[in-house]
Amino acid sequence: MNKNFLKKIKNFIRIKDKNDNTPLLDAMINYKKAPMVAFHIPGHNKGLGVHPRFFSLAGDALNIDTTDEFDNLGTLHPSTGAIKKAQELAAIEFGAKSTFFVTGGSTIANLALAFSTTGPNDEVLVGRNCHRSVLTGLIITGAKVNWIIPKKLNDWAIFGAIQPQDIEEKLKHNRNIKLVWITNPTYEGNVSDIKKIAEITKKYKCSLIVDEAHGSLWNFSERFPKSALFYGADAVVHSFHKTAGAMTQASMLHLSKKSSFDEEKIKQGLKLLHTTSPSLLLLTSLDAARSNLSSDKGQKMLNSAIDNALYFRSEAKNIENLSVLEGDIDVTKIFIKMKNLNGIHLESILEHNYRIEVESASDEGVLILSNIGNTRSEFEYLLKCLREISQENYNYPKQDIKIMPLIDPEIVMNLREAYFAPKEAINKNEAVGRISSEVIALCPPGISVLLPGELIKEEHLPYLYNFDKIEVIKE
Ligand SMILES: Cc1ncc(COP(=O)(O)O)c(C=O)c1O
Repeated sequence: MNKNFLKKIKNFIRIKDKNDNTPLLDAMINYKKAPMVAFHIPGHNKGLGVHPRFFSLAGDALNIDTTDEFDNLGTLHPSTGAIKKAQELAAIEFGAKSTFFVTGGSTIANLALAFSTTGPNDEVLVGRNCHRSVLTGLIITGAKVNWIIPKKLNDWAIFGAIQPQDIEEKLKHNRNIKLVWITNPTYEGNVSDIKKIAEITKKYKCSLIVDEAHGSLWNFSERFPKSALFYGADAVVHSFHKTAGAMTQASMLHLSKKSSFDEEKIKQGLKLLHTTSPSLLLLTSLDAARSNLSSDKGQKMLNSAIDNALYFRSEAKNIENLSVLEGDIDVTKIFIKMKNLNGIHLESILEHNYRIEVESASDEGVLILSNIGNTRSEFEYLLKCLREISQENYNYPKQDIKIMPLIDPEIVMNLREAYFAPKEAINKNEAVGRISSEVIALCPPGISVLLPGELIKEEHLPYLYNFDKIEVIKE
């Protein structure tokens, strides 16, 4: 569809906003106003059946804690009523052919995608920095994984962007690969050239899935990179709960206008893997978040999240010993490191000395998210604390642990075969040279240290600091 036409449609919807822009939110407000006598699940009956202290903690939320099928709110699988309308509005907002709401997070969206687009021994090219849910999906289906290793930013101990030429090289040499599955942006905000990658996958007649879990905001501002939906990726996943203002576990799965995927199969996959009691509260939070981000108020919030991030980035330049990751990046994801402190130490100082909880730590630095809910004064406080920390002489002992596995994997067995093969648990130190039979991917960010079928090497050991025993294939 022509870009300007799409923009016009979106604007039209935004203007229409005030009346029927939030079908599910409206249905839930009406449900709360006009409750029925409930002889159905959930049995707590709007909170009456819960622990009194839990009621005082969560009261109002319990009042509307219900699942689909009841009270004319619609159903999720198949989608009907207000849920269906809310999904349709989301699809229009994202310029997608279809959008599906998911209450088990992007984990379920990824599982459903693997389930409905791959089968035993299908060859898939997967970014090594993918979330473990992608691999769980491929264990279920028995697809064969070929790795694409993103650029390693060793100074920061994180993965960077995926190089389009690396994808082309792999596809050129293995014509059996029919699906490319990558993560963009990375957890820390590095952005790959999706336009080029989409051109390459088209050239080699491959489908493209982009796990855009961390790019849910992109569609809502020209100040962000473009969503892969814009470049025609077949499917895109958004963890709306991560940054876009939906509740924890609420995600979206989109199929682009020209997606090569069979929509019915995707629906089947979602239906089979999804809970049969989806939380209406979570689904409503998706409808509300989408509408909020496109409203004037939401646009202001977005702009201030970006402005705050830019403000932080420019002020941080003047702090001695502090570095901020720059480059082709989503500016709201701010990855910083402090000279003479590793990421875990910096995270712990911020938390314990200053009551600042960051998103995550790597071996080198910490990730700070500039959220739509953060205020400028919170950034001022963070800057003040970092100035202080930069002047202190913290004397931490050197640790022999690592977090972000920047290892080149050596696959010696199919993922699924290895997962189901006879196994034994052995001491970690005896595991070098053996074949792993379990998924080890610590969260965050859920990137694999070891997978079933992978050779265990000496360099894995520092990442396995909290394991005494490792499950390996029985010899
Ligand atoms: C890239 C990526 N994809 C998928 C997921 C899974 O998302 P969720 O927590 O919504 O299930 C994560 C979670 O961290 C992620 O980082």
